[in-house]
Amino acid sequence: MSVATRASWATALADRARTHWTPERTRELTGGKELEILPAEAPQLLRALGILDGDATMPPARVRKFLQINHVARAMRPAMAELRTRHDVVKLLDAGCGRSYLTLLLAWVARSRGHRLEVLGVDRNAEVIAECRRRAELAELDDVVTFRAAALETVDAGGTHGVFALHACDTATCDAIALGVAASAELIAVAPCCQAELARGWKELAESGATGAFGTVWRTPHVRRETAAHLTDAMRMLLLRARGYDTTAMEFIAAEHTKKNTLLRAMRGTGDPHARAEYEALVAATGGRGLALAQRI
Ligand SMILES: C[S@@+](CC[C@H](N)C(=O)[O-])C[C@H]1O[C@@H](n2cnc3c(N)ncnc32)[C@H](O)[C@@H]1O
Repeated sequence: MSVATRASWATALADRARTHWTPERTRELTGGKELEILPAEAPQLLRALGILDGDATMPPARVRKFLQINHVARAMRPAMAELRTRHDVVKLLDAGCGRSYLTLLLAWVARSRGHRLEVLGVDRNAEVIAECRRRAELAELDDVVTFRAAALETVDAGGTHGVFALHACDTATCDAIALGVAASAELIAVAPCCQAELARGWKELAESGATGAFGTVWRTPHVRRETAAHLTDAMRMLLLRARGYDTTAMEFIAAEHTKKNTLLRAMRGTGDPHARAEYEALVAATGGRGLALAQRI
């Protein structure tokens, strides 16, 4: 698309968005919550992301993603403000960026507020990365956003101030944490997805006939999966604290929008000198299975 064609496309889209997104429709979408961006304010970005259709409407299937990325960015506002006090240009890495929803939203929000931000999106899927580049160009963010097709385990994130990972699948959340710690990133923010590592370990214990206080949890697939997900997050928090990160967990969005609604937020600070021992005690108390992350950070 030529520059002139893109400019007239963006203007026409903005007109349609202004007409369609009346205050009533916008309120219905947001549920009255304050979001980082509204459709009438960022139609070009949202169209580039495929969240808005060409007529500026938002298909119901796209609402969840719109809300997810908005709420993550909103929850990270104070941390981002903190990074801005320390750096002229804040450098972020979006680990397992997928189709760049969060990557581009972060860049758009920063630009619209006059903040200087650079984001690198990393995903091992080369086709997805090609699509991300197309989207960044369409949103006119390709001067501040770059993408790399690579496995997180192979990336050197040196110089990165903040690492984000939204629903990076299976062990990719731990990969993102390891990447952030190795780079001494000041901020690590991850919304974990479906890591099965601990649940797999517990399943092995159940199959081996092991007994213990957690026996019923090991042997009951649904309970095992759910409990393992929460304890995996607790273990991640302890490992981050042990490495000097002040770490909290929060629900970043209501469960009706995604069941994977936990956000772990770690800021480099004092951490907790007892956290490693607490991690080891937790592992021992639940059957002796921990996270590979413990050997990596
Ligand atoms: C469920 S998608 C989420 C994408 C995006 N963060 C979002 O919220 O829309 C998970 C992404 O993580 C990527 N991924 C998983 N493991 C990875 C790894 N080890 N290295 C790089 N990318 C990985 C997948 O290719 C996929 O695109």
